[in-house]
Amino acid sequence: MKALVLAGGKGTRLRPLTHTSAKQLVPVANKPVLFYGLEALRDAGITTVGIVVGDTAAEVRAAVGDGSRFGLRVTYIPQQAPLGLAHCVLISREFLGDDPFVMYLGDNFLVGGISGLVDAFREGDCDARILLTKVAEPQFYGVAELGPGGEIRGLQEKPEHPRSDYAIVGVYTFSPVVHDAVRAITPSVRGELEITDAIQWLIDNGFRVDSHLVGGYWKDTGRLQDILECNRIVLEQVERDIAGTVDGLSELTGRVVVAPGAVVENSVLRGPIVVGADAKIISSYVGPFTSIGRRCVVQNAEIEYSIVLDGSCVDGVSRIAHSLIGRNVEVSRAAGVSNTHELMIGDHSRIQVRS
Ligand code: DAU
Repeated sequence: MKALVLAGGKGTRLRPLTHTSAKQLVPVANKPVLFYGLEALRDAGITTVGIVVGDTAAEVRAAVGDGSRFGLRVTYIPQQAPLGLAHCVLISREFLGDDPFVMYLGDNFLVGGISGLVDAFREGDCDARILLTKVAEPQFYGVAELGPGGEIRGLQEKPEHPRSDYAIVGVYTFSPVVHDAVRAITPSVRGELEITDAIQWLIDNGFRVDSHLVGGYWKDTGRLQDILECNRIVLEQVERDIAGTVDGLSELTGRVVVAPGAVVENSVLRGPIVVGADAKIISSYVGPFTSIGRRCVVQNAEIEYSIVLDGSCVDGVSRIAHSLIGRNVEVSRAAGVSNTHELMIGDHSRIQVRS
């Protein structure tokens, strides 16, 4: 069995980060979302992986390489434009050959792995097996309508009026017959070849499509609150590990990770949190569910329930919370007139200041 991982696309909801960066590489507990997916594939016994890449191909390649450090053999499949999930299957025909495969959306985050799904597919004789989960806002997802016996009656992609609250999770298993489906469908109103339509085509043409409910936690990490929530879930699992240097004036409570080369001075750290390699936390408070990236500086500041990416500096700022701060960003106190905010912010940024 092979895997097709989708790491192209637009990432509009995570702008401005995704202006310069792949959304699949946004870190959760200091590890890119995409890596969790690659590890889940490996743990399910899959080693041959094709990664569909778009504008951010160079960054994805630099992060994943040939896949050997995950125990995988990775082939990159360039997609000229984000023309849809089924388009990704279409352009991967040669790589996939006639093997059954798992399709994994690179921005999906699934706790508990995919071995259950993959094993059920291997043991069964269906042509597609999809994962479903109940969500509060089904209109933002592919939605499955189920019959009384749990069989799939129909699928809709981001319907205005969803017929159920079962969202389609972004991990699918297919037999090679899906290649006929992706060739048969036409673009949706949003101009994309939808995998949801391809699966509906399989159902309409008498092929067997099974579903199975996700047991553990799942999120599509496309939005800020979802990334922060994933970060919380992963940090819940970390074990205390202090490899960096912590001075005697600092107070560390609970599951705190301080990576090698990181320095903590005169600070209060309340776990669960991770502090990346070579970061500095000086005279600050870092509260629960926070990931501080590598080489960051947090100084005379307070921060909690947030993610700070590599190389950023937060200096002299009181409580930051529910925030995602990009790479090499500077957040500091304005020196001039009091109650004045001085900002230089990238396009499509979102700032909420307390006035
Ligand atoms: O997350 C689950 C949802 O994923 C499903 O419920 C929907 O049925 C499914 O259509 C999909 O919806 P999204 O709108 O969230 O998909 P998105 O555009 O975010 O793309 C998912 C991943 O695939 C993401 O890592 C980007 C990548 N991608 C996307 C497109 C459209 C590509 O590599 N190429 C593409 O052409």
